[in-house]
Amino acid sequence: MKLKLHVWRQKNAKSSGKMVTYDAPNVSPHMSFLEMLDVVNEDLISKGEEPIAFEHDCREGICGSCSLMINGVAHGPEKATTTCQLHMRSFKDGDELYIEPWRAKAFPIIKDLVVDRSAFDRIIQAGGYVSVNAGGAQDANCLPIPKDTADQAMDAAQCIGCGACVAACKNASAMLFTSAKISHLGLLPQGQPERQRRALSMVQQMDKEGFGNCTNQFECEAVCPKEISVRFIARMNRDYLNASICGSGPEKKAGGGED
Ligand code: SF4
Ligand code: FES
Repeated sequence: MKLKLHVWRQKNAKSSGKMVTYDAPNVSPHMSFLEMLDVVNEDLISKGEEPIAFEHDCREGICGSCSLMINGVAHGPEKATTTCQLHMRSFKDGDELYIEPWRAKAFPIIKDLVVDRSAFDRIIQAGGYVSVNAGGAQDANCLPIPKDTADQAMDAAQCIGCGACVAACKNASAMLFTSAKISHLGLLPQGQPERQRRALSMVQQMDKEGFGNCTNQFECEAVCPKEISVRFIARMNRDYLNASICGSGPEKKAGGGED
């Protein structure tokens, strides 16, 4: 396959960037999208040019770092697929591809296609953990949890923190990410003691980082590689409202569950 690539190049956080066009004449349909970029970079290096900076780690859809906007869609055209899992057979010979970084005030560009997503880390640090002693693994496993509830918690826990939900949202809202992180703990009994405090502090940190609010466009769910449901946003809003009204003191609920 022969492709024409238009890639966002930006030297550093302070410089202004621009689209630069590259020919990619030897692309195999079996390559992943990142392997295709590797080949382009090898060519640039052999010509003494600066390779395109992009983020990746696992290349297995687990780490959430391969954040690219491809033809205006976060992670490209395939549903439930991270950029590293996207194959070039999803495109046609002669296609022109526009490759850009996530665009959001809270995700400043570091270089080329790499953005700073540490705002997500700070949201997690604000309460996305269980600090109460839940016992050893065998004790935790003794707690009976309804199958439906466990399934919902596991669905929420699939979030890999890639940031596609933010990039796709016209408000750059991080509510799908934050709600997944709040819900996967808040649905389980071990997450109950800090449930209200967690909802308050994570939402407050999310707002502080400069993410926008949800206006029910559902673009986040459409691009999420882990198909996290917007139902978790409604759940987070209920937890936040409950915590705001009741205060963030000792939690009253003892069990997990949807309410
Ligand atoms: S909710 Fe989905 S799109 Fe958003 S960070 Fe998590 S995995 Fe990525
Ligand atoms: S490189 Fe880890 S999810 Fe793509």
